[in-house]
Amino acid sequence: MQKITNSSEETKGLAQDFAKKLTGGEIIALFGDLGSGKTTFVQGLARGLCVKERVTSPTFVILNLHKAKKGLKLAHFDLYRISGPEEFEMIGASDYLGKKNIISVIEWPEKVEPQAESAEASRMKHGRIVRVKYRERRRTKKLLPKETIWINFEHIDENKRKITFKNENQRNKS
Ligand SMILES: Nc1ncnc2c1ncn2[C@@H]1O[C@H](COP(=O)(O)OP(=O)(O)OP(=O)(O)O)[C@@H](O)[C@H]1O
Ligand SMILES: [Mg+2]
Repeated sequence: MQKITNSSEETKGLAQDFAKKLTGGEIIALFGDLGSGKTTFVQGLARGLCVKERVTSPTFVILNLHKAKKGLKLAHFDLYRISGPEEFEMIGASDYLGKKNIISVIEWPEKVEPQAESAEASRMKHGRIVRVKYRERRRTKKLLPKETIWINFEHIDENKRKITFKNENQRNKS
């Protein structure tokens, strides 16, 4: 499913509608450029889930846990500054992800699960550039299970964003 929104309020509305379908245990991965509307979407989710606190973009905090309706919690991860999958595990990600009363939403999921095309990196060794495969790849797969809902955010112009809901197989395609 793909939607174009024309304002941040529309993006929040879309998220608020989407929140109605959530019952707990979902893992939602929001990926896309800086400023493309991921945190804005989380604010809409929070509204749909009756979260009372303000949802902000946590610059130095990786996880914000919010109380939501019906005994649910919204776990808002922002992995922009995380060093890698190990740190994600160290902060106790597995205590939250997929737990039945917790809805997990993750900004910058790419930081812990490189997409297929970035699964190799260049590294300097003895003055030469070599291709290195990510060793963590198989293990990080388990951090974000195949049930993860992937939502892509694209900046179209100042107030327009393209928001695409994808499943595991579609997420590397545009
Ligand atoms: N249609 C739209 N949807 C969402 N945000 C919009 C839209 N139009 C304009 N904006 C503005 O774009 C900015 C989006 O910022 P936001 O923090 O949500 O992005 P982000 O993807 O979380 O960025 P980051 O990668 O830095 O975390 C806000 O200032 C918001 O007001
Ligand atoms: Mg953000």
